[in-house]
Amino acid sequence: MAEENVLREIEGRVATLTINRPDKLNALNIATRGELSDALAELEENDEVRVVIVTGAGEKAFIAGADIGEFAGRTPIDQFKVMGASNVFDAFDAFSKPTIAAINGFCLGGGCELAMACDIRIASDRAKLGQPEVNLGILPGGGGTQRLPRLVGLGTALKLLYTGELIRADEAFRIGLVDEVVPAPDLMNRVRELAGTIASKSPVALRLIKEAVRASVRTSLDEGLRHERALFGLAFSSEDKVEGVDAFLAKRQPDFKGR
Ligand code: COA
Repeated sequence: MAEENVLREIEGRVATLTINRPDKLNALNIATRGELSDALAELEENDEVRVVIVTGAGEKAFIAGADIGEFAGRTPIDQFKVMGASNVFDAFDAFSKPTIAAINGFCLGGGCELAMACDIRIASDRAKLGQPEVNLGILPGGGGTQRLPRLVGLGTALKLLYTGELIRADEAFRIGLVDEVVPAPDLMNRVRELAGTIASKSPVALRLIKEAVRASVRTSLDEGLRHERALFGLAFSSEDKVEGVDAFLAKRQPDFKGR
């Protein structure tokens, strides 16, 4: 039961979470959000896993948004509770390891917000992205009004949010909403290759990089630079730093243990 809506697969150091509601274009219902949050909490504790990929089942969609069927008849209090309980967008944001969204099709509303809460977005050339909430008389509630302008700038974000327009992957790449576009059949290979590259690096360094970069959008430059310097000092207490420097000097590949 617990894994019905989210398939979990671990291969080596990379975990893949696949939203598994293809007949509903992988719309995020309450159960799916809960399973995603639970999966992340487990993966956080699993030291074997160094990178997490999120994608959607089927050919058509990454995630076509929140499950609109669940909106009908919901009271403000119901909605408030849903958004507060195990908020999956916050869970992705706070997750300490690198995350990659493999955007294999429609990436709309809450789907686009989930992708934006991931660290890196790689899209298939068939993907379509957008925040169409305005068409339902609502606004994004999973961080869309906050993360979209940080990625693409105020004007472009407001244009997408005001119109609800869906854009193609190449346009999403042009505005900075996705980081790479690849032909649809190659998407997962490319994402796994990237995940593998990242997973071969020092988990300690990855964690500190993520911490420092997350701080950059929340703090002043001065504070961020101070934070970076403190984390830089902290990196010098790790075995990974000793291994990385030794390996470089000995002209061999490092074997990072994440300690
Ligand atoms: N919530 C619930 N169900 C959804 C959904 C969503 N966000 N998006 C798609 N579905 C369901 C459809 O109702 C349909 O179910 P059915 O076969 O039981 O009728 C199924 O997924 C297939 O979708 P369909 O609309 O038939 O596919 P399409 O190719 O004609 O259109 C979209 C694709 C993405 C353009 C269209 O589904 C859509 O606009 N979805 C809503 C997107 C949205 O507004 N998201 C933001 C929500 S806040």
